[in-house]
Amino acid sequence: MSKLTPVLSAHWDQKDSFTIDAYKRNGGYAAAVKALAMDPDALIQLVKDSGLRGRGGAGFPTGMKWGFIPQGDNKEHYLVVNADESEPGTCKDMPLLMANPHVLVEGVIIAAYAIRAKHAFIYIRGEVTHVVRRLNKAIADAYKAGYLGKNVFGTGHDIDLVLHIGAGAYICGEETALLDSLEGFRGQPRLRPPFPAIAGLYARPTVVNNVESIAAVPAIVANGAEWYQSMGTEKSKGATLYSLSGHVNNPGQFEAPLGITLREILELAGGIRNGHQLKFWTPGGSSTPLFTAEHLDVPLDYEGVAAAGSMLGTKALQIFDETTCVVRAVLRWTEFYKHESCGKCTPCREGTWWLVQILRDLEEGKGSEADLAKLLDLCDNIMGRSFCALGDGATSPITSSIKYFRDEYIAHVTGAGCPFDAAKSTLFAEAK
Ligand SMILES: Cc1cc2nc3c(=O)[nH]c(=O)nc-3n(C[C@H](O)[C@H](O)[C@H](O)COP(=O)(O)O)c2cc1C
Ligand code: SF4
Repeated sequence: MSKLTPVLSAHWDQKDSFTIDAYKRNGGYAAAVKALAMDPDALIQLVKDSGLRGRGGAGFPTGMKWGFIPQGDNKEHYLVVNADESEPGTCKDMPLLMANPHVLVEGVIIAAYAIRAKHAFIYIRGEVTHVVRRLNKAIADAYKAGYLGKNVFGTGHDIDLVLHIGAGAYICGEETALLDSLEGFRGQPRLRPPFPAIAGLYARPTVVNNVESIAAVPAIVANGAEWYQSMGTEKSKGATLYSLSGHVNNPGQFEAPLGITLREILELAGGIRNGHQLKFWTPGGSSTPLFTAEHLDVPLDYEGVAAAGSMLGTKALQIFDETTCVVRAVLRWTEFYKHESCGKCTPCREGTWWLVQILRDLEEGKGSEADLAKLLDLCDNIMGRSFCALGDGATSPITSSIKYFRDEYIAHVTGAGCPFDAAKSTLFAEAK
């Protein structure tokens, strides 16, 4: 029996799945009509009861976040959808928006109504021009149909939706940097408190949610909290998109209940590419500590992954086989963090620079065993001492790879360079 539970991805195989006609043919926008007839507080309660947790990385309960918005305060409220998706390996929101942008538009209508916001924004990364075009068309079609704008669905409620295109900075996915960028400032994280629920966009109460979190809402409204609760595990409810990439036979999106294991997903995906073995993988993108083959049966829910020493993050399962040099892979990720560090705080700005220098020396055979201790010391000074989670995330690949592959680091020292034959390593061959 297939373990897949296609909800968000249910109609992706239809050629016109991204059009408003197809979306309506598949039952789309009925949930918005149902939601707009409900009391906003009842909607927030429904999302609380469903157990939906934010799919942007941290897994914060979505209904609880909506409930933090002060009611009756006579202030503008804002809904902001985070479509920045810039973490290496993370690739679920863009395919979702390409295949079915209307599910996000419908989710926005419902969420904005629930938190009593008349204005919603989608902040999307700048490089994805094709996704921007598709989303712009979906928004225009929703306006034309009377689902957005004044008097939506003839209910007397007004909801405007603006698509804002970022300039391609990973830090602008961090919710407060995103808000600064949306306001026209340089994207750098804000000091908290105040939290966005109290003083977010233009210092007004604001909900920031990931694309997949908001897109999950129409199905919850349509089918009820119990239906959503029936999938997943005790504290991690529902189904979600797992993005499988790297050295596998059939990479792609696998929508399954939370708690599925990598072993099960690999079975569905035709396994590790032929003739090779799993060496290491990320459970949730490059900022989550690496796992190895010993973690194949870890339940991929928030609790299971944390208990095994990592984080579920964005469920970006990047798979690396035995032809990959772990030191080189970690160096590449660290170069990314150094490049994307916004420079606001010293541990991250200076620390990521030094991490790259040491890893480069090790990879080029100019390192020493003492460099491992230096790397761990630097990570210790970044982790928990940085202003935002980018700094913490930068340390994850380093500390976890040294934990599981210390011998491989040492081999770079004793062998005066990378022991891997670049010709055999398809992933990094061109980098040599
Ligand atoms: C450096 C950094 C980058 C982030 N990038 C994203 C992103 O691209 N998309 C996203 O939804 N959340 C991202 N987040 C998490 C957001 O700050 C925030 O927690 C999330 O948008 C909340 O949505 P959720 O509750 O629906 O998960 C990032 C966080 C950090 C520290
Ligand atoms: S941790 Fe890095 S990205 Fe975050 S505020 Fe500090 S310098 Fe900027």
